[in-house]
Amino acid sequence: MSADMMRAVVQDGFGGPEVLRIQQVPRPVPLPTEVLVRVHAAGINPVDWKTRGGTGMAGLLGEPPFTLGWDVSGVVEEVGFGVTTLKAGDEVYGMPWFPRVANAYAEYVTAPARQFARKPATLDHVHAAAVPLAALTAWQAVVDTAHVGAGQRVLVTAAAGGVGHFAVQFARHLGAHVIATASAPRHPWLKELGAAEVIDYTTTRFEDAVADVDVVIDLVGDAHDRTSTRSLEVLRPGGLLVAIPAGVSPELAQAAEAAGVRVTPFLVEPDGAALTAIAGLIDAGEVAVEVAETFPLERAGAAHARGEAGRTRGKLVLTVAD
Ligand SMILES: NC(=O)c1ccc[n+]([C@@H]2O[C@H](COP(=O)([O-])OP(=O)(O)OC[C@H]3O[C@@H](n4cnc5c(N)ncnc54)[C@H](OP(=O)(O)O)[C@@H]3O)[C@@H](O)[C@H]2O)c1
Repeated sequence: MSADMMRAVVQDGFGGPEVLRIQQVPRPVPLPTEVLVRVHAAGINPVDWKTRGGTGMAGLLGEPPFTLGWDVSGVVEEVGFGVTTLKAGDEVYGMPWFPRVANAYAEYVTAPARQFARKPATLDHVHAAAVPLAALTAWQAVVDTAHVGAGQRVLVTAAAGGVGHFAVQFARHLGAHVIATASAPRHPWLKELGAAEVIDYTTTRFEDAVADVDVVIDLVGDAHDRTSTRSLEVLRPGGLLVAIPAGVSPELAQAAEAAGVRVTPFLVEPDGAALTAIAGLIDAGEVAVEVAETFPLERAGAAHARGEAGRTRGKLVLTVAD
């Protein structure tokens, strides 16, 4: 293979997991303020398979061909002019460019240096690649948006997934009383992560089991059993619903107003400084990272099929280089 080419997962059209295929593409070159990162592992997120199928960020990426993926962990290979905070050989992780195309399902990625942070020293690349998008979502929702504080009651729906398992741990770290929804087999693990109460969503409607909640971090959305709308019922007056999967419909906004509670849409943003703070919590042993399964880059389609089944405990990760 020529040194200026690399392997990447490319899709030529929208569709099922089978549209993902490996192709040789030109290796990117870092512009001033950017770094070239050799990708060791790439995290998988629901937005990846949504975009693959024509929803998610497809409207921003435009028509295929394109390469999916935003989460990377790897090693800086080269720095562009002006970069002073990173150098060749540094181990970094990040969620660059989101929601623009980042081409993370590939052997190399270029992005602004400050959209990366140093990888948590206690994690290998697979576990580090599981962190950025899911943990930044949880951090920006729990810390920056809801300003969760000690003693508050926080409900996290889909707590066993990628975002949820970080949201439980961040809220717990801030001293909140965390209530988590998940299927029963996940309950002992979620309690280890810091959930004070767990609700089996397959047998119990959470609005029958909890009340007086300050903040709902909803990771399920109204598409499934009207979860966002139902969560308005558990909020105390003035409480906040962070509606993460699909934003806030006019109906949901109206229902929130009628109920005397607040609701906000949410979209995660690249944030190297937050990734540095998150790495600190991970290296201090305060936050654990769960990887359910890894797949080689060539099997990105199989990884998507597994993720789309909707039962992942923690994260799925693509392995790219040793
Ligand atoms: N707006 C944003 O910036 C943003 C950022 C990140 C993610 N998101 C969205 O947020 C959602 C969650 O993302 P994710 O990465 O955490 O997904 P994920 O890892 O694929 O979530 C899988 C988990 O969902 C749980 N689950 C499924 N249905 C459930 C239900 N009805 N009640 C409770 N738990 C349920 C499953 O638990 P069991 O195995 O126990 O069934 C499984 O552990 C996705 O829609 C994603 O697109 C949005």
